[in-house]
Amino acid sequence: MAKQKILVTGGLGFIGSHTVVELQQAGYDVVILDDLSNSDVQVLGRIGKITNSNPVLYQINMLKKNKLVELFIKEKDIRAVIHFAAFKAVGESAKEPLKYFHNNLLSLIHLLECMEEFGVKNIVFSSSATVYGDPDTLPTTESTPFKKALSPYGSTKQMGEEILEKTSAVKNINAISLRYFNPVGAHATSLIGELPLGVPNNLMPFITQTAAGVREQLTVFGNDYDTPDGTCLRDYIHVVDLAKAHVKSCDRLLEGDLTDKFEVYNIGTGNAISVMEIISAFEKCNNVKLNYKIDARRPGDAAAIYANVTRATEILKWKAELGLKEMVTSAWNWQNKLVGIVTEL
Ligand code: UD1
Repeated sequence: MAKQKILVTGGLGFIGSHTVVELQQAGYDVVILDDLSNSDVQVLGRIGKITNSNPVLYQINMLKKNKLVELFIKEKDIRAVIHFAAFKAVGESAKEPLKYFHNNLLSLIHLLECMEEFGVKNIVFSSSATVYGDPDTLPTTESTPFKKALSPYGSTKQMGEEILEKTSAVKNINAISLRYFNPVGAHATSLIGELPLGVPNNLMPFITQTAAGVREQLTVFGNDYDTPDGTCLRDYIHVVDLAKAHVKSCDRLLEGDLTDKFEVYNIGTGNAISVMEIISAFEKCNNVKLNYKIDARRPGDAAAIYANVTRATEILKWKAELGLKEMVTSAWNWQNKLVGIVTEL
């Protein structure tokens, strides 16, 4: 039987590249769309190195709808789309809200218009725990009500889900939205990982860059929260586990198993881990010392957010398998590899 074809937008990015690897290893045929605005074309070759098979790349900006149409004309038998391509810098989104609304919403709309026109019925959407805002109840379940988004980036994820829900209700489109908690780590081969542009905002790349000497010191944003050690609690999820949740979602869509035309799943481990616990695990598992200081809270940070993952376990038949050790060691191995290949990048 011919392999089933999946279009992955943003397939050279952090989560996208790991997902492409898992899809290929699960027997899917992958076509990547990426505009290379926040990714490197060399990731394509590294994916090929891991899987022994080079996916096709279309360098397309999804705001140019005619280019997207050309892709759908050429790639006739796309069975499902996984949509990662979006802007994701929370701080930048607060300064440039229109840039985020324009890009993230219009690219999704163009994609759905093409799917309708070309009869592609299935989509997996890259959502985020950020849709919950600062939730009143923990752990959050998929039915925990959305609070006001903490950033325009968060608004685009809430709106993206709404666009999918309303569209799938009346069109021949089935959608699965995956709400990621905090993705960290890298592939076990250290051939792909996170490539943050400039100074990282997220905790793990800041830790690895500090340990590597690229940054002088890590700042822990607040230790006076109402949590066991005073630092914020998050649900960190290994990017390879996260990638596998996309494969499960494609399986479910293509087997026609959906009970609703729009389904949502929390994708996390269900474990609440503090900033200090991450730092300790990183130091212990990698046998390195981190230079850090405790400072003021970062505005907009929730004290705690972690997932109830029962739905993903029971319905999607997916569960995280990798723990904190694999997260911190793979992130560190990737950072070390990155220093070695920095000229290539
Ligand atoms: C952030 C975004 C979220 C986005 C996610 C993507 C905000 C408010 N939220 O989540 O919308 O979906 O990234 O991965 O930006 N920390 C430090 N020092 C640092 C960096 C972080 O102490 O230098 C702490 C933070 O206070 C937080 C934890 O580490 O408690 C995790 O931070 P981060 O990795 O930025 O993720 P989130 O803020 O949870």
